[in-house]
Amino acid sequence: MTYPLVVVANRLPVDLSTEPDGSTSWRRSPGGLVSAMEPVMQGAEGAWVGWPGSPGPAPAPFDADGMHLVPIGLSEEEVADFYEGFSNDTLWPLSHDVISPPVYHRHWWDAYRRVNRRFAEAAAAQVAPGGTAWVHDYQLQLVPAMLRELRPDVRIGYFHHIPFPPLELFAQLPWRTQVIHGLLGADLIGFQRSGDASNFLRVTRRWTDLAVRGGTVSMPDGRSIRVGSFPISIDSRRFDELARSPWLRARAAEIRADLGDPEVLLLGVDRLDYTKGIRHRIKAVGELFDEGRLDVPGAAFVQVASPSRENVEAYQQLREEVEVLVGRINGEHGRIGSQPIHYLHHSYPPEEMVALYSAADVMLVTSLRDGMNLVAKEFVAACVDDRGVLVLSEFTGAADELSGALLVNPHDIDGLKSAIERAVTMAPREVRSRMRRLRRRVLTDDVAKWSTGFLEALAGTAVQPAFARDA
Ligand code: G6P
Repeated sequence: MTYPLVVVANRLPVDLSTEPDGSTSWRRSPGGLVSAMEPVMQGAEGAWVGWPGSPGPAPAPFDADGMHLVPIGLSEEEVADFYEGFSNDTLWPLSHDVISPPVYHRHWWDAYRRVNRRFAEAAAAQVAPGGTAWVHDYQLQLVPAMLRELRPDVRIGYFHHIPFPPLELFAQLPWRTQVIHGLLGADLIGFQRSGDASNFLRVTRRWTDLAVRGGTVSMPDGRSIRVGSFPISIDSRRFDELARSPWLRARAAEIRADLGDPEVLLLGVDRLDYTKGIRHRIKAVGELFDEGRLDVPGAAFVQVASPSRENVEAYQQLREEVEVLVGRINGEHGRIGSQPIHYLHHSYPPEEMVALYSAADVMLVTSLRDGMNLVAKEFVAACVDDRGVLVLSEFTGAADELSGALLVNPHDIDGLKSAIERAVTMAPREVRSRMRRLRRRVLTDDVAKWSTGFLEALAGTAVQPAFARDA
């Protein structure tokens, strides 16, 4: 059986996890891509091609939650070279302002090409004649061109969930031209922000001979490729409805009570990633406690840092630094029964996240660079009683859309401290009016609107001339 719509992403929406007794179970995968795409695919007749999150041979395809899931197997060596290496130690830091230095290894690149081909072959086998393939994110930038070679009849869309680096940084990548040509296999290339789309068009102009006019790249075979921005969102109604449910409100009250009913509850929720500015945020909060501008037990800060990419050295180092910092602040300001920072190195189901969002007064999103940041949007969607202030980094895609947030430069620790203090002391009227503005935006521009917009733009791209001639 083949499918009219096939999503191709590095991860499946569920991870195969092995319990200590050897039994296996499927759990929700981490990250913004999966939370955005899951509701889109649940309503579509489609297949999802992706990796189940641990090394080993691929389990057989299966159906779950109204989706047909097609697992791709990665060996241990491929996990090390393709996933931890090229994807997350080369492309990820390169795309996030080289916050951590990118590492360039030729054997990682070989694995990247090999694994991208495997994904392209699996997608080619799933998509119906004349169907649509929607390829996602930086781990699979060669798939569009590889898939086009195998299936010229298929309409191919590509969406880049993370920032696209400026030319001056992308220039470092030894395989920059191959990556550009990989992406140009698509009919439509979508980015989070118009700045990302311009960066891509600039590198295409610089490292290819192709004609680039406005947001269109013309290929020698007559194809025109559209490049544009499509800011991603969340299933806002789901978060809104969950936050209104009585049991969740009760859970939110319970969380506050367990924290000793502080007057102010500050919250941070991130994958434990150096792009998220977690250290900057903790430093700022710590100094506010040092200076008595926040006090225990009047204020509490909950930081959820879900485990991520734990075999990559930069992530191990970050974990150490964060934990030392939290330990110092709690050691200095904690008392028996109450401490300033509640650091949770776990991931939680969406229901518990909504309870935390509902319980919080101030949400701190201080990324040093972030494609969009869906946590900011989830918080807003969960603030059903218009209570809650969002402190948001200028370096997120979300900052382009979410006027109503208090925008901050996370590198400016004093500015960050002032913004946190302002959020904590903001008059209820201003809190309400800002949150209403934010909610209007997040509830209107939801993920269904995003995916429809992308797929309609893709459907509007011309039928491939080369294939039209053959057909
Ligand atoms: C970001 C990326 C996704 C990725 C997710 C989780 O949201 O854009 O492509 O899946 O992080 O990271 P992981 O390495 O665990 O898949």
